[in-house]
Amino acid sequence: MSSTGVSSADVVVEGETIEALLAPGSSLAASAAESAERVIDATGRYVVPGGVDVHTHLALEMSPEATVSDSFETGTVAAAWGGTTTVVDFCNQTLGDDVRRSVDEQFAKAEGQCVIDYAFHMSMGDVTDSALKEMPTLIDEGITSFKYYMAYPGHVYSDDGQILRAMQVAAETGAMVMVHAENGIAIDVLREQAVERGNTDPVWHGRTRPSELEGEATHRAISLAAVAGAPVYIVHLSATEALAEVAAARDRGRNVFAETCPQYLYLSIEDHLTQEGIDGLTYVCSPPLREHHHSGSLWTGLRADDLSVVSTDHCPFCEKDKLLGIDDFRLTPNGLGSIEHRMDLIHQGVVDGHLSIARWVETCSTTPARLFGMYPKKGVIAPGSDADVVIYDPSRRHTLGVESHHMNSDISAWQGFDLTGAVETVMSRGQMVIDNGKFVGRTGRGRFVKRGLSDLLI
Ligand code: URP
Ligand code: ZN
Ligand code: ZN
Repeated sequence: MSSTGVSSADVVVEGETIEALLAPGSSLAASAAESAERVIDATGRYVVPGGVDVHTHLALEMSPEATVSDSFETGTVAAAWGGTTTVVDFCNQTLGDDVRRSVDEQFAKAEGQCVIDYAFHMSMGDVTDSALKEMPTLIDEGITSFKYYMAYPGHVYSDDGQILRAMQVAAETGAMVMVHAENGIAIDVLREQAVERGNTDPVWHGRTRPSELEGEATHRAISLAAVAGAPVYIVHLSATEALAEVAAARDRGRNVFAETCPQYLYLSIEDHLTQEGIDGLTYVCSPPLREHHHSGSLWTGLRADDLSVVSTDHCPFCEKDKLLGIDDFRLTPNGLGSIEHRMDLIHQGVVDGHLSIARWVETCSTTPARLFGMYPKKGVIAPGSDADVVIYDPSRRHTLGVESHHMNSDISAWQGFDLTGAVETVMSRGQMVIDNGKFVGRTGRGRFVKRGLSDLLI
């Protein structure tokens, strides 16, 4: 199975890499099977490249009160259960913080903890001269993409001038610029007005972050990138207005890319964020869940390649953390957990007729690897690639929820979701991590992936 479609092949793994793809029934395949240490019969299942999730937040201290509930160990175990074999997390520089310190801190948190391979983007929350000077060094070290925030004023927010300057450095160095595109200044006005009126329920998190302000910020990010001559990747795109901006820029032939996340494809403000108490707070993330009609456009955007990637923006919390916002939605830590469910949820999109199987592989594995400088080591089953291989049963049915998931959280945004299609076996660089439904991985075996530059830029 690949990003170009389905074919029959015997996959030969030698050590950490794919050695060959052989025609089933051929004499070469027969002799490879004879000399193999182990032969797995995957008849009736898909053999797909391990998933590549390029947007996760593991062990992130969101505020002094709330830390993401998954560590690098629990998060990568959960990812492996769901067929993801590479995650790209973030080194998090905050206001007044030093880039190098934040990089060292996140490397230390991951070191010796991961069950699958991992890499980092730089999340730059304070664009100073010294932070900009670090960019070329970080690129040499394999951190080749940089996230900037148009949201969260007073925290990690950057103004247009700061983002333009960072984009100018990216244009010179070939780095990828990632933008959280929401107009945080306008959103803060709406949030304050809502709370002054006594509108403190979770639904107001959504109502104070209107989709127009994501569309506007996306337009601005694309314009700034055009002026700087840099590529731009819009993270966690959730709204029709933002998608229209990305599609228009791509039609103009620009190096503009975007990801969406499962929550924007399946969950909505009406069905989820309108609930009171913890039931609504569970779904507080930014950008917020949107009205139903947005998800239809997002599936179309994925099909048409205006959206290139599905990542998770995995950022889980426990009930006690989410309850910080019980009297004021603004105090709830933003984010929800999906690292374990991405491959299954997007495969469900294949079952439901939204996407082709090839597009499932392309958006969840191949394109993220290509956009973020890991291809063809990751994202493809081909001779010479890392043997990151998932055996996927397309017909097994299962139900998601806290009783069965492996993410370290006592709540789930996916509680009760019935899906068709499940991971059976996961191999990471030739080593079994999930063997026919049993976890056999080892903490610390995951390696840092030193990334190159994107190979998808024109
Ligand atoms: O709600 C979210 N998305 N939390 C994670 C931080 C971010 O902006 O990606
Ligand atoms: Zn963000
Ligand atoms: Zn995020």
